[in-house]
Order: sequence, then structure tokens, then C-alpha cells
Amino acid sequence: MTTLADAFTALYGNAPEACFAAPGRVNLIGEHTDYNEGFVLPFAIDKVAGIGLRIRPRESGRLLRIASTRGGQVVEAQANGLVPSMVAPWARYVAGVFWAMEQRGFALPGADILLDSTVPVGAGLSSSAAIECAVALGLNEHLGLGLSREELVLICQLAENEFVGAPTGILDQSASLLSTPDHALFLDCRTRDARQVDLPLAASGLQVLVIDTRVSHSHDSGGYRELVLACTRGARELGVAALRDVGTERLDEARETLAPEIYRRVKHIVTENQRVLDTVELLESRGPAAIGGLLLASHASMRDDFGISCVELDLAVDTSMAAGAIGARMTGGGFGGSAIALIEASHAEGVSAAVRRAFAEAGYITPEIFSVVPGPGARRL
Ligand code: GLA
Repeated sequence: MTTLADAFTALYGNAPEACFAAPGRVNLIGEHTDYNEGFVLPFAIDKVAGIGLRIRPRESGRLLRIASTRGGQVVEAQANGLVPSMVAPWARYVAGVFWAMEQRGFALPGADILLDSTVPVGAGLSSSAAIECAVALGLNEHLGLGLSREELVLICQLAENEFVGAPTGILDQSASLLSTPDHALFLDCRTRDARQVDLPLAASGLQVLVIDTRVSHSHDSGGYRELVLACTRGARELGVAALRDVGTERLDEARETLAPEIYRRVKHIVTENQRVLDTVELLESRGPAAIGGLLLASHASMRDDFGISCVELDLAVDTSMAAGAIGARMTGGGFGGSAIALIEASHAEGVSAAVRRAFAEAGYITPEIFSVVPGPGARRL
């Protein structure tokens, strides 16, 4: 990352004191279960948000300057008393972490920050959480705040929920901060217990392809919020604290008592939680080649019951399967973004070519297709 340090020096006139990086993620399975206090199984990818950081001496005030290698103006604000409307939307992922730390009682100094991210924006790969986590880890380590990574997850979620304004759960931030190479992160979003589950893709001759449909999405508006509300209503009407508390055995009763649309949302969450547990069990007993059916069932559930797929994602999944994938599903919040396909490594070219051809024939934008391996979580560079 010398380029980040160089760009920082060129912009601010001083070298950064430290650089940090935090990854985006794919979610192998367990979608929209996080804010229902259920289970998720993501892994970190090798696309990261990097930050260069230089802390301002206390006596020179608390000015915060935020810039991005993607261009745009340098955003300037006071590190205390931050308000979202004072900060350009892209810089809120940085400023939001300062704000959230302030809420937790830390009076942070001013700083210069340069952001350099390779996580595509709007692709469902957690570009926003990657930025938040790089900033949170950077402040924690560089200023010696003594927070655990689990505490940083909650600070980043607070920034996302209250400062950015997206009512998301802890999936993305947990994946970015807690992942380890060659593992998926099995997380119970109620107890926040996390376990590393072996995901030996290369050793099994497998690959995970990401198919970014380039249909962009954002979670601070519309659809995502409505789903959160539908799930909350489902839980209330079933008399539980969260849909996590509803097992598959209660689905018949739920169908009879809930409005049809609420029932379908509930059904997705309840069955998806079970699929995460089943996936972990299969990974541990038989390895990654065994989970294809669960990935596909998860996609069908998101398409038919949760209503968050789109024609491009369905085409990516269907074409991958027809070209020999072991399993495929959309990943992330939905309404666009990316699908993943679990494939034998020798099928990578064939599956990619088939998907590109199908998109061209349908007249859709050319998708971005690349393979990902489970990589490390946030770190100092
Ligand atoms: C987005 C949110 C996560 C999670 C997923 C869906 O990525 O940020 O908290 O809800 O959607 O699983």
C-alpha cells in the first residue's frame, strides 16, 4: 500500500502515521437473518478499504479532514458535534465512526484521513462496512483505545444505523473485523458468539465466483427498511422477541395467522436460519462440495418469499447452475448487487463465459465476474 501512503503525503503534505485495511465480504448463506437475531455465515474477501491516518495534535484543534482516492472534495468537519448533513454522503462512513465513538464516551482528536477502497460500491459486498471497520480499527489501535473487535463491530453498526441511516444488522461489520483466512465466520447474531468454520475451497478444488450484476442498491432507503418492519411485525404477531425464536415447526401456524406477505417474509427468515445451521453441519461433516443444494434453496427463498432478488440476479444464478455450478445464490442485502456461484475450479472459465453470454443476450449490463477466497479480517498495513 505504498501508493496509499504516497497519495496521502501528496494530498496533505505529511506522511500518514499509520495505514489500516478492512475487507468487504460475501455472505455464504444467512441473509437478512442478522437483524432477526439469527445466524449468518460470511467470509472476508481480498477486496479492501484502506485508510491512511494522521492524528492532529490536541492543541491544534479537532479538525477532521476526509478525502478519497476516488476523487471528490476533501470533506472538512469538526470531530466533535458531527451531524450527517454537514458531511458528504460518501464521507459519512468515516465521520460516522468518529461520531459513534464520541457517543461511547471517547473524545477523539482531529485527524487527516485518506480512503482508498477496492471494494466495489453498491455490489452487495459491504463497501460501507469495510470503510467503517478500517476507521474503527485504525482509531482503536493508533490511539490505544483498548476496545475489542467485538466492541468495534457495535460501534460501526451504530455509525451505519444512526449516522448513515441504514437500519442494518451486524453481519457486514462482523465479517470485516472477525474473519480469518480459509474460514467462514459462523455468527449467532443474538449471543454474538462466533466460530470459525473451515472453508478449504482451494484444497477441495473449488472456487467461489462473485457475479456483480452492477445493478446498484443502497440500504438507507426503501426496500430494506420495509423488510425490517415486516420481520418486526411478524415477530410481534407471533408473540416472540425476534424471528430467531420461531422454528420451522411453527410455520403452519404462522401461515394461518399472519397476512400472506408477512408470512412469506417470516418463512424466509425461519427457513434461512435452519439452512445456515445445516450448512455449517455439512461443511464440518462433508466439506464445501456438499452445500450446493442449500445455497440454491436459499436463493429460491429470497426470490419467492423475501422478494429481494431481481431478474439479473436470477439469471446469474440460473445460468451458473446450467453451466455446471455446484450451487449459487444472491449474496448481501439484495435488490441488485452480486450473486455467488460455488464451482469446481476447472469450471471457472466456462461458468463465467456462460453468464456473460446470457447477460449480453438479455441486453443487461456486462457483469463483473471474479473469484474470491476467504481472507483475513481488518488489519494494520
Ligand atoms: C446488508 C446489511 C446486513 C444484512 C444483509 C442481508 O448487507 O448491511 O446487515 O442484513 O444486508 O443479509
